[in-house]
Amino acid sequence: MVYKEVYERWQSDPEAFWMEAAEAIDWDQKPSKALFDDNAPLYEWFCDGKVNGCYNAVDRHVENGRGDQVAIIHDSPITGSISKITYAELQTRVASLAGALAAKGVSKGDRVIIYMPMVPEALEAMLACARIGAIHSVVFGGFAANELAVRIDDAQPKAIIAASCGLEPGRVVEYKPLLDGAIDLATHKPEVCVVLQREQCAAEMTERDVDWHAFQEGVAPANCVPVEGNHPAYILYTSGTTGAPKGVVRPTGGHLVALNWTMKNIYNVDPGDVFWAASDVGWVVGHSYICYAPLIHGNTTIVFEGKPVGTPDAGTFWRVIAEHNVRSFFTAPTAFRAIKREDPKGEFIKKYDISGLRALFLAGERADPDTIEWAQDIMGVPVYDHWWQTETGYTMVGNPAGIEALPVKIGSPTVAMPGFDVQILDDEGNQMAPNELGAIAVKLPLPPGTLPTLWNAEDRFRKSYLNTFPGYYETGDAGMIDEDGYLYIMARTDDVINVAGHRLSTGGMEEVLAGHPDVAECAVIGVTDQLKGQLPVGFVCLTKGVNRPHGDITAECVKLVRERIGPVAAFKLAVVVERLPKTRSGKILRGTMVKIADSEEFKMPATIDDPAILDEIRDALKTIGYAA
Ligand code: COA
Ligand code: AMP
Repeated sequence: MVYKEVYERWQSDPEAFWMEAAEAIDWDQKPSKALFDDNAPLYEWFCDGKVNGCYNAVDRHVENGRGDQVAIIHDSPITGSISKITYAELQTRVASLAGALAAKGVSKGDRVIIYMPMVPEALEAMLACARIGAIHSVVFGGFAANELAVRIDDAQPKAIIAASCGLEPGRVVEYKPLLDGAIDLATHKPEVCVVLQREQCAAEMTERDVDWHAFQEGVAPANCVPVEGNHPAYILYTSGTTGAPKGVVRPTGGHLVALNWTMKNIYNVDPGDVFWAASDVGWVVGHSYICYAPLIHGNTTIVFEGKPVGTPDAGTFWRVIAEHNVRSFFTAPTAFRAIKREDPKGEFIKKYDISGLRALFLAGERADPDTIEWAQDIMGVPVYDHWWQTETGYTMVGNPAGIEALPVKIGSPTVAMPGFDVQILDDEGNQMAPNELGAIAVKLPLPPGTLPTLWNAEDRFRKSYLNTFPGYYETGDAGMIDEDGYLYIMARTDDVINVAGHRLSTGGMEEVLAGHPDVAECAVIGVTDQLKGQLPVGFVCLTKGVNRPHGDITAECVKLVRERIGPVAAFKLAVVVERLPKTRSGKILRGTMVKIADSEEFKMPATIDDPAILDEIRDALKTIGYAA
């Protein structure tokens, strides 16, 4: 079948389409139907089925003869080690950890926060939760204690599973002081913290802490607990307009069905093939494509602890692809920009045989044409951009390489996948003509596996996604669709920026800057960056009477964001300005500031209060190398 037929088959009978896809999953009790719409516009899938995520990702492969197949390869150029875990070993390890959690009183529906670097134990912790129906919430290691505290208070975990440290090039990031700091800050206190001691740094243990191995000693392994199809598998926090992160809920049944479907149809791998997503378990790409999807589908997944450059060089990716015979490779464009900057002629790739690789998949941020063309040239494989979000958990718009590789139009992530009726709407919610720019929305219901709600925040879910365009899911992205149905993503419609494929809230950074005692008012914008796509820049107006050196104040602002949000915010640029440009009604003109910073033409906003302020903004930006 070709793409068009598959898409039309879904369109004409979504119920049959998803019930058929659900047959690839092992259910303890088969669902009687796919869609549950009694509570529309809140939709759920496979609610009356019973299923276990860990059984589908691990046990069933052992039962079906894949026990000796490698499930996880841990390749860590940062420590110089490579290790492999078979499906049978994974089953033993996960059942043991799950048993220990159960013995400690963690059961179905309890939350467990996982704060771990790129080690296989991070996946084991996720799967152990899934095994007993506990809901995990993985927090990315690059976040500061305060961000972790916010997540602890929202998720209210019974247990936290952490490692003693993460490893950044040239720097050991001690997790335990961050974890202890977060628990001190949080109102909610977990009952136990399980700590994986890594040899690079031994964490100091308190009474609340227990060593990963000691925790599991003498405890009976746990069996898989069947859960309802709509039982939350995990909560993953992502950035929104404000500093309070949104807890995206992932329902178990739909997530298993949809992720499994994507492995062949989008990534074109068969069970047994090696699949590699170079991301981090703290992001949705890590949840879906380092942990769950490859394992559900019986693939071998790679947990890579390193960077595209500097660990040890710009050939690391090629070495991993060659050494482990990777079939499909997925990463963010920023990683390729980093490699291209170090090795523009692609000298490193010549040292490795990457002939087993079939395609490169890029997502997480805009894939710029230069990067795509460069990657195509040096790798000699098709490069597929695809577009999705934490909220959806998998591709909304992509190139279904396993069904039919459609012609690539550089600059477009290609076409809507089955399940997603993607449309461009104007401010009133009317559908726009081809090639007209508007808000990108998806007609409800969203397909299985996408978010049914936000954790503890149904109102916020409705406000953030459903209210603007009744009957649609608002993606927060703007763009257009051409006459062939190809989508183009142009910008965000909210205050979210994308730094090195990481989604960050400028509103959250503004909240931190506003907390500086000398700052009266502030704005943070995302400016274009050659490597990371975007970088945050802060503008601060000082409180009357403050006459300390501006350099001291901006340095403190930078430090404050690093301490409060974390190094991942990459907030390094701040300037002091007299005033911020605003509309007459007081709205800060952030969009215009971005255009000035990027030296782009812009139309003077008709509602601007005082156009002269824009010259002051331009001058301030020039002092930090922007607005040339
Ligand atoms: N734990 C602790 N700190 C972390 C971290 C982690 N897991 N991940 C990143 N950081 C720190 C970095 O050390 C850096 O600190 P610094 O300011 O002291 O240098 C800071 O956070 C910013 O990190 P990053 O934006 O990743 O920049 P970088 O300069 O270290 O690396 C790239 C740049 C492009 C090489 C890197 O971003 C990359 O490999 N990106 C791949 C894309 C990706 O994984 N995207 C995820 C979504 S698909
Ligand atoms: P996240 O939830 O962190 O995965 O971020 C999702 C956001 O990243 C999207 O809403 C887009 O703004 C952006 N994004 C993801 N993939 C792409 C892509 N292929 N092209 C352009 N932007 C993308």
